[in-house]
Amino acid sequence: MNSFELYNPTKVIFGVDSYSKIDSEIPREARVLMTYGAGSIKNNGVYDAVMKQLGNRVVFEFGDIEPNPSLQTLEKALSLMKSESIDYLLAVGGGSVIDGTKFLAGAIFYQGDPWDILKKGIRINKALPIATVLTLPATGSENNSGAVITNKLTNEKLGMGGPALFPIVSFLNPEVVKSIPRRQLVNGLMDSFTHVLEQYLTYPINAMVQDGYSESLLKSIVKLAPRLINEPYNEVNAGNFMWICSMALNGQLGKGVPTDWSTHIIGHELTALYNIDHAVTLAIVFPNLWKNQFENKKEKLAQYAENVWNIQEGSIDEKAKMAIKCTEDFISSLQIDVRLSSYSLEYKRAANIIKENLKSRGQTRLGEKGTITPEVAERIIELCY
Ligand code: NZQ
Ligand code: ZN
Repeated sequence: MNSFELYNPTKVIFGVDSYSKIDSEIPREARVLMTYGAGSIKNNGVYDAVMKQLGNRVVFEFGDIEPNPSLQTLEKALSLMKSESIDYLLAVGGGSVIDGTKFLAGAIFYQGDPWDILKKGIRINKALPIATVLTLPATGSENNSGAVITNKLTNEKLGMGGPALFPIVSFLNPEVVKSIPRRQLVNGLMDSFTHVLEQYLTYPINAMVQDGYSESLLKSIVKLAPRLINEPYNEVNAGNFMWICSMALNGQLGKGVPTDWSTHIIGHELTALYNIDHAVTLAIVFPNLWKNQFENKKEKLAQYAENVWNIQEGSIDEKAKMAIKCTEDFISSLQIDVRLSSYSLEYKRAANIIKENLKSRGQTRLGEKGTITPEVAERIIELCY
């Protein structure tokens, strides 16, 4: 196993009674900015429940944080935070609201152009405290220190992070899953599935805990998917869904093992170009990335075939190919359209644009072995057409 450090200070308060703890967790004297999205929280009762808990605290609101939160929207919130001397952030929403709020927490202390944080990869060591009320299990953002922000002017979608961005406390109430539309349930399943794979599907190093933990999460997602889609209001399905998504990206799976975040990096490019849902970009990319990187990944693919899909017969190559087939069938069972051509008439430009973007950012050796050069990424994207 490789050397590692593990740090995750986020307090998770999970359960149908979790909102009742908001009052005791958020300081009474805080000047709170509550952030949210386009309004789903006003339709499903979460807004009222949270407001009730906040009681007499000084609370300002910033809504309209859009999916794939943009710098341009968040700059408006920064002005409000400065004029109202906000000292505590409460994000109520999915990954986009939480990510946008993490950006605000760090950017408020940054002296230069806030986009530099993303563009220059500045780590956030000082930030305002953040609490989250999760309404959409998917990204794990409620339990990690990363965020992804889009610059609409330059069509860039880039990641940021740092130890100060872990939420202080996250409230996870599975009852909220009842209100989530099918499209977002599928996105959550696909995003969490890919988060595990990016930290698992590389090459074997006999990391028994990380592998076992990843395989358990992958099997759980496959088992849960049809149940959740048919019965999201079932408390057992909803609770499992919420905790799986959080565990898939809380920092533990990828410690001490090789990881490969290239599907996410390429996926962010597709979202920036064509506004495709984050999770859908992953479903489009990773099976094609596996086919392209077959020789590098086939041993772990065979292990995944055995332990997740129960394929015990055949050579390593045969098992690895079966694993890809099973995964594609799983994606297809979620009714995700994985052809890039379905999302834009200009899809044939994608491969070249992304190759050039990766080159210009110096992302020239992606993948666990550094084998995914911009030219290889170009070929992977051509397979997605
Ligand atoms: O805006 P509202 O009205 O809240 O509606 C949202 C939005 O339209 C809706 N929604 C959320 N909770 C709901 C609900 N609708 C009904 N009932 C509810 N309870 O869902 C839509 C999508 O929300 P969004 O937050 O965009 O989805 P998601 O959680 O999938 O987040 C995606 C963003 O997170 C980033 C992605 O790149 C993308 O920008 N990621 C963040 C990561 C992290 N910080 O660790 C890791 C991920 O890999 C990912 O990159
Ligand atoms: Zn993701």
